[in-house]
Amino acid sequence: MTRPRQLDEDVSMRLLRPSDATALAAAYLRNRAYLSAWEPVRPEGYYTGAWQAADIAARLVANEAGEGYPYGLFVGDAVIGRFNLAGIVRGPFQSGGLGYWVDRKFAGRGLASAAVQAIVETARDELGLHRIEASTLLHNFGSQRVLFKAGFQQIGMAPHYLQIAGTWQDHNLYQVVLHDSAG
Ligand SMILES: CC(C)(COP(=O)(O)OP(=O)(O)OC[C@H]1O[C@@H](n2cnc3c(N)ncnc32)[C@H](O)[C@@H]1OP(=O)(O)O)[C@@H](O)C(=O)NCCC(=O)NCCS
Repeated sequence: MTRPRQLDEDVSMRLLRPSDATALAAAYLRNRAYLSAWEPVRPEGYYTGAWQAADIAARLVANEAGEGYPYGLFVGDAVIGRFNLAGIVRGPFQSGGLGYWVDRKFAGRGLASAAVQAIVETARDELGLHRIEASTLLHNFGSQRVLFKAGFQQIGMAPHYLQIAGTWQDHNLYQVVLHDSAG
């Protein structure tokens, strides 16, 4: 997906650009308390345009190499969500990992479901990937629902998998296989 995609009347999804850094920092700052239970502890600098500009630049280098697709959700120029397909490995794996969040004020409108489903389609039809993986905290039922609706299945539970909110926490692991096994 290289062109913007409209997810509903107001919200579109597209790859991040260097000029999004300030709006992205503002979005992280607005959602800092909301995301704190679901994300790693961030350094103070994370909430600055400079930090986000460096991060976007690194992700666009990875994108050029075909290793990742850093998407933002936008209302006008404002960022209201992030969806990140990253760590793409080709060869016999053809797989990438998906992470995401949606601004607190836009929760429950079906945006994450629409975005994840669009990324699954893109990964299958444009990128030719075989598989996407994702993980959630055991009690992140909203995120699990988003994944199930996009065709993901649970493939396991990894104890002490990721450091979230300062603690190494268990995660459920999910994958969606994008082609049948004969393909
Ligand atoms: C998880 C998250 C991305 C969902 O975004 P969203 O745009 O609100 O999601 P949607 O509106 O597309 O769908 C949410 C679904 O989960 C369901 N849901 C929400 N909370 C739920 C809960 N506590 N228990 C069960 N289902 C729940 C909703 O009913 C909806 O399902 P439905 O379409 O069948 O009604 C968002 O809440 C978020 O950013 N949370 C904080 C960060 C995070 O958890 N990121 C994911 C890390 S794995």
